[in-house]
Amino acid sequence: MGDLSRMDRTRRPPKPPKPAARPPHSGGRPPRREVAGEAARASGETAALPAPLVFPVDPTVLAPRRSAGDPLAPEMMEMAGWDDYALLDSGLGRKLERYGHVRVVRPEEQALWTPRLPAETWEAADAHFTGDVEEEGPGRWRFTRRMPETWPMRFEAARFSCRFTSFRHTGVFPEQAAHWRWMRGAIERAKAAGRRPRLLNLFGYTGLASLIAADAGAEVTHVDASKKSIAWARENQGESGLDHLPIRWICDDATKFVAREVRRGNRYDAILLDPPKYGRGPEGEVWQLFEHLPAMLRACRDLLAPDALFEILTVYAMRSSYASFHELLAEVMGTRGGRLASGELFIAEDPAPGTDVRRRLATSLWVRWTGEEAK
Ligand SMILES: C[S@@+](CC[C@H](N)C(=O)[O-])C[C@H]1O[C@@H](n2cnc3c(N)ncnc32)[C@H](O)[C@@H]1O
Repeated sequence: MGDLSRMDRTRRPPKPPKPAARPPHSGGRPPRREVAGEAARASGETAALPAPLVFPVDPTVLAPRRSAGDPLAPEMMEMAGWDDYALLDSGLGRKLERYGHVRVVRPEEQALWTPRLPAETWEAADAHFTGDVEEEGPGRWRFTRRMPETWPMRFEAARFSCRFTSFRHTGVFPEQAAHWRWMRGAIERAKAAGRRPRLLNLFGYTGLASLIAADAGAEVTHVDASKKSIAWARENQGESGLDHLPIRWICDDATKFVAREVRRGNRYDAILLDPPKYGRGPEGEVWQLFEHLPAMLRACRDLLAPDALFEILTVYAMRSSYASFHELLAEVMGTRGGRLASGELFIAEDPAPGTDVRRRLATSLWVRWTGEEAK
């Protein structure tokens, strides 16, 4: 597999076009409520998601629910590694990790502190990402021994290949294991109650969440813009021996796919979204997190079945606050009831030698909506 740069979040985005000026709602006629897929239907098959309205939610609808069970208290979710993954050390803007039998050093801007392991241990790592430490630029790897192009890893039922991509990633975001475990529990409970949940995995990358969800009993629709990441995900399905499970692999722009599903009236019981800060669809469609997420979440709300189980959003734009995404989803899901939780997702480092003290490395922000049925 060659350059996987198209699946990465780190490209420098072009300047977004200035939004058309739009007067704020100024009284008189009450604001019109959004109708699912209306704008998209009006503008044809390839249309983008409906443009946001000035007041898409009546704030009085939100108020009682907010005071009842939505205190905006951050939940600090922690992932402490598993057999095939460990955060061995971190500091001075880098992290030392173990992926299976491969030790990797990569840049990590959150690691402001001092490494605990000696410099020789770091230097002896198998692979060092030597690329530009800026977020942009393809960068390169330096190897201290001959390395295979791919190597195997495993998380529960998912077996998968890792590789050194030119944008520093390896094919797995190990901290996501915390969400996978939670999701597995929710799907298994639904299954025990006689349901076969339909799960939509948007920006699905190498398919690990899709495999775990399918193994837990979900019928999965996996969407990603990159042909290479879809091919990698299918390979992972084969390596896991899970080819018999119902997963639809779809190479498409997430925004277009979701708009089309809304128009078709399709419904899902659970949605995962792991959008990059910046990305491109197969036909060059631009994805800008801060510009496109609100409309994407509104469309996802329209896709959730009345008795839906959950929706989980992860955001790796660490310079934002979890609260920004919490408030956005609170607004979007305001009329749906259910419960919101949000916070940060950490990797707990291996304990310092001779202690049980684990430093925590912040990786991402998340918000999870849980439907009434699944609370
Ligand atoms: C790398 S994963 C997300 C992992 C992590 N959250 C991050 O931000 O780096 C992002 C995935 O989104 C996909 N992607 C980017 N733009 C997309 C778009 N417009 N539609 C669908 N998938 C897209 C990429 O191909 C990639 O597999």
